[in-house]
Amino acid sequence: MITRDTIAKILDTAQIEDVVRDFVNLKKAGSLLKGNCPFHQEKTPSFVVNPNKNIFKCFGCGKGGDSVSFIMEHEKFNFPEALRYLANKYHIEIEETQVSNEDKQVQDEKESLLIALNYAAKFYQTQLTETEDGKAIGLSYFKERGFLDDTINTFQLGYSPDSYDTFYKQAVKDGYSEEMLLKAGLIKEKNGKHYDFFRDRVMFPIFNVSGKVVAFGGRMLKSGKTDNPNVYNPKYINTAETDVYHKSQVLYGISHAKAEIRKHDVCYLVEGYTDVISLYQAGIKNVVASSGTALTKEQVQLIKRFTQNMVILYDGDAAGVKAALRGLDIVLEQGLNVKLVLLPDSEDPDSFVKKNGTDATLDFIQKKQQDFILFKATQGIEEVKNDPVKKAEVIKDIVESIAKVDDNIKRQLYIKHCADIVEVPENILVNETNKIRTQQFKKSKEFNQEDATAINEYVKTDVDHSQPEVSKTPPLYHQEKDIIRVLLEHGDQEMNEKESVAEHIIFELVDVEFKTEVFGKIIKLYMDAYTDETPLEEVKNLNNIRENDVKDCLVELMSSPYELSPNWFAKHEIVVKDANRTYKTDVISVMQRFRYFKMMEAIKILDEKIKTADQSGNFEEMIASIMKKMELMEVRKQLAKEIQTVIHPH
Ligand code: CTP
Ligand code: MN
Repeated sequence: MITRDTIAKILDTAQIEDVVRDFVNLKKAGSLLKGNCPFHQEKTPSFVVNPNKNIFKCFGCGKGGDSVSFIMEHEKFNFPEALRYLANKYHIEIEETQVSNEDKQVQDEKESLLIALNYAAKFYQTQLTETEDGKAIGLSYFKERGFLDDTINTFQLGYSPDSYDTFYKQAVKDGYSEEMLLKAGLIKEKNGKHYDFFRDRVMFPIFNVSGKVVAFGGRMLKSGKTDNPNVYNPKYINTAETDVYHKSQVLYGISHAKAEIRKHDVCYLVEGYTDVISLYQAGIKNVVASSGTALTKEQVQLIKRFTQNMVILYDGDAAGVKAALRGLDIVLEQGLNVKLVLLPDSEDPDSFVKKNGTDATLDFIQKKQQDFILFKATQGIEEVKNDPVKKAEVIKDIVESIAKVDDNIKRQLYIKHCADIVEVPENILVNETNKIRTQQFKKSKEFNQEDATAINEYVKTDVDHSQPEVSKTPPLYHQEKDIIRVLLEHGDQEMNEKESVAEHIIFELVDVEFKTEVFGKIIKLYMDAYTDETPLEEVKNLNNIRENDVKDCLVELMSSPYELSPNWFAKHEIVVKDANRTYKTDVISVMQRFRYFKMMEAIKILDEKIKTADQSGNFEEMIASIMKKMELMEVRKQLAKEIQTVIHPH
């Protein structure tokens, strides 16, 4: 068990922004930081970090907490694992109370695998730098390739000795079980005998995003003995899938590159281990490798946590081009901007940067980057110019890529350019693209007609809702007013162990603009007080307020205490049991209703758009709006459910 002291030390040291930044691209927003939530898919950031309070909160999906809960949620760690992670990050030594043997045995298996893998990395490193063979064979190989000591250290490169079981024997001697070593992919078993999986290879540890060794790649050495021609001896062998290594989710170099990717707001994608290392050594550090396989969705999503921009640096030869193109649709689907740089024939980034140096390489990347879709079009059409059947296939292929682009304007531009390149009329490409997008749309979202009708009905009744003043009041007037009321009435009361009601509310409203000006002004007063760390209660002090409309409004609201509008519940046929109501449930339901009605507003606007687009025959616009509407209705449905549960706790 980790001691209380250590836990306290870890909690005191961990800086939420620091912890989150390893996974999320954060931008400043006043005294807060904002980014795309790593816990749910979103296009506009609703994930907020508050460095002063040392907490995070997503008001899209509702997740929130401190550094430990962030790591637990993000890495799927349990509490002790998360503490260990943070302790490691901040170089805090963990003190533990006595652990029973039993406890030791049930210690989380993943953690043990990581420990064994880390041990192996250290073993291979020692072999490389401290044994005769390691130095003569491994180290000299790396030196020959121009890797400096610093680089070798940074990437923890190593050497696996030319022996049947040196590693296995040493590891067992140091207390690692056969079972664990097998599970980590470090040893193999044949006829009851254990042997080392990596032998006589230079070793490249593969790190996960937080910098833990999860696997290895081992490269055979040119300067080795001649191999038996009957035995296939691949240039690289890699750890097979294990509980801690899922090839499709890992990018080589990501832990070293992530900060730089964020800094430069672009990620270079290369093919191999050595490409990553050479570029890094040359000071081009925002680089990762897909390690010879086609890019996966998970890998693209990993990059997306740090940047929206990607440049693929591949061999200019046919294989390189093919490899690059294979990744294209996945990248486009994820909404990344992707450019391509083809290196001169039979050069890879490793050889290129060695030959030409850093500046020339960056210059080359800058000058030679081309748009990926246009490249695909040019490339494809070049090959099939005189074959109309093949040409049609190529066009279909290009159109499929274009259809993956979500941004309307971008897609339009691509169509225009590609029409020129492949020499077909633009409207043919438009039609084809639309066909594909309609199919995708039908497939991806089941149009729930019933729900749609219900919503439309509801929106209508909401508008017609026939109290005379309704038509004159701005949209969301009542919902905004209710928020201000609870804020004034309960602002200084506790919401949960971390925040007051006022803090809770303004935290949730960071991104929101109120429609009624005076309410917006009041919220801003609270936000300013919060940012300046002046007591929030001071906001209510009328002596401090200059603007008359704000003053009038405060006076009015404070003289008529807040009450949940019974009409609203009646309309929804919800019976409120007073016994279950507290100021906390009031706060929650006021906020929920606000979001709910905001959603309604947005849906209403979209309905208008859909109607106009339909009338003017703008099919593109119509589909886009319908898709957006579907998304919002999903959220609305969720909210409606939540509202029910708060009001009916059982
Ligand atoms: N690769 C692999 N297995 C192989 C060949 C390649 O896993 N048999 C992966 C490795 O991750 C390698 C990448 O594909 O880094 C690119 O392959 P290649 O260009 O052949 O390797 P380089 O990284 O250029 O290595 P080197 O320069 O040492 O030949
Ligand atoms: Mn190479």
